[in-house]
Amino acid sequence: MDYKLKVAEVVSQAVDGQLSVDEIVTKIEVPKSLELGDYAFPAFVLAKVLRKAPQMIAQELVEKMDQTGFEKIEAVGPYINFFLDKQAFSQDVLGQILDQADHYGDLDLGQGRQVPIDMSSPNIAKPMSMGHLRSTVIGNSLANILAKANYQPVKINHLGDWGTQFGKLMCAYKMWGSEEEVKKDPIGSLLHYYVRFHEEAESKPELDDQAREWFKRLEDGDEEANFLWKWFREESLKTFTKVYDRLGITFDSYNGEAFYNDKMNEIVDLLEDKGLLKESQGAQIVDLEKYNLNPALIKKSNGTTLYMTRDLAAALYRKRTYDFAQSLYVVGNEQSNHFKQLKAVLKEMGYDWSDDIHHIPFGLITQGGKKLSTRSGRIILLEEVLDEAVELAQKQIEEKNPSLANKEEVAKAVGVGAVVFHDLKNERLNNFDFDLQEVVRFEGETGPYVQYSHARAMSILRKAGKNLSGVQVNLNDPNAWETLRLLGDFDQIIKRAVETYEPSVISKYAIHLAKAFNKYYAHTKVLVEDRELESRLALVQSVAIVLKESLRLLGVKAPDEM
Ligand code: ARG
Repeated sequence: MDYKLKVAEVVSQAVDGQLSVDEIVTKIEVPKSLELGDYAFPAFVLAKVLRKAPQMIAQELVEKMDQTGFEKIEAVGPYINFFLDKQAFSQDVLGQILDQADHYGDLDLGQGRQVPIDMSSPNIAKPMSMGHLRSTVIGNSLANILAKANYQPVKINHLGDWGTQFGKLMCAYKMWGSEEEVKKDPIGSLLHYYVRFHEEAESKPELDDQAREWFKRLEDGDEEANFLWKWFREESLKTFTKVYDRLGITFDSYNGEAFYNDKMNEIVDLLEDKGLLKESQGAQIVDLEKYNLNPALIKKSNGTTLYMTRDLAAALYRKRTYDFAQSLYVVGNEQSNHFKQLKAVLKEMGYDWSDDIHHIPFGLITQGGKKLSTRSGRIILLEEVLDEAVELAQKQIEEKNPSLANKEEVAKAVGVGAVVFHDLKNERLNNFDFDLQEVVRFEGETGPYVQYSHARAMSILRKAGKNLSGVQVNLNDPNAWETLRLLGDFDQIIKRAVETYEPSVISKYAIHLAKAFNKYYAHTKVLVEDRELESRLALVQSVAIVLKESLRLLGVKAPDEM
């Protein structure tokens, strides 16, 4: 609920509209200490308009203010401090949460409009990198967050499934490959053939000619070439899908680069008609000097199209197919120039909707401060990370709760949750150094900590065994205030996450709420039979609902017991 807005309205009324509600909202602060109230308005921002000393302004305004809905409003020096009426607030917030359950915090920013999210998008026959993993996890969370704000996300896995490298791969497979090997370990074997091809081609340049020949066959629709291409794609996808399954992530479309093969001529023709294509050293380019960008490469001198050409075709296809409100590309920061070029070319083509295209970049994962790469052997095997995390979760459960019913399932939820949460807890543009011990840590600001807090709330509710529907909340406990305030913030948190495309807004909030709740729980005997018992349980249930929903938005499960 937007209580800030309410405060702004009260201020605006008191100044007879001399400052608009919108202007005032931007000035309102949240004091560091609860003793200074829940919101504060710095009256000195009015000093110029009203030509008075700020202290006096604060005093006079307070006298004019309508205090309903507030415990008190007071002037302290140049500040006006607002104290919300805790009773009314708790009734309002907890009532709504119990009533709306997991729909609490739903917004209608999107009005049902579609938002394609280009995410994950690994390359066929190559290992999925940490970057692809980050894209998968961030993209999935953004999809959940956008859906909560009534956008309709469309999760697209824009597979790297086309390019001259397939010629090399086929050539190599025909020489050294075996079907059995590929079936056993698709990515491992295909990568191996590919690497061997490069090694041998150094001394045997005729291999490159053969590879070109294979790629030409593929482009011309040759049966064998096409069969191999499809098969490599399918086998690679099987490996990727194992990771997706473990993370519980699905896609709405696997239209990758190859999908645009028959949509490329149109793009080139359109560029031509609009007079945007230029020749440069035999290649076709679009000049982007006025955007301060390097030219966009559309066609190589030998006629083959490029990554950019495919992205142009994809952008147009997505606009036509989804009539999108926004179109997102969750891709590492190192491609930011590519997306600047993509937007600029579309703009040059006269498409206003290029403004609705957003690259959602994220930082690099390093290890020991160094960049990861397949070539240097510095790669992190995701399967192993997940295995380790799940194993650790299993151990903890054996220690803490050996009689737990569905141990294995819970261990999976906790282990995988730890890895996902770790990725989403910092602002996405931050680089981070990968440290397995850190990723599978369960104490401190981690996913399992939030999960434990949720499970604790659920266990209290189970013990109480009360039906809380229709409860008249009457909570007058200062210990509960921080938790209540946070619960009331939920919709504003969602809004901020949508506007900044930042899952970390949600993860930080979840940590904050879990901490506040644990503090509350440490100071309060929830289950004592007294007048406020049901109100306290309403608070506990509300915390459980909002923690679970926050975790869901991040793509993390919340077991009821652990
Ligand atoms: N396959 C590309 C890579 O691994 C990422 C593709 C991102 N999406 C896009 N539409 N360009 O670098």
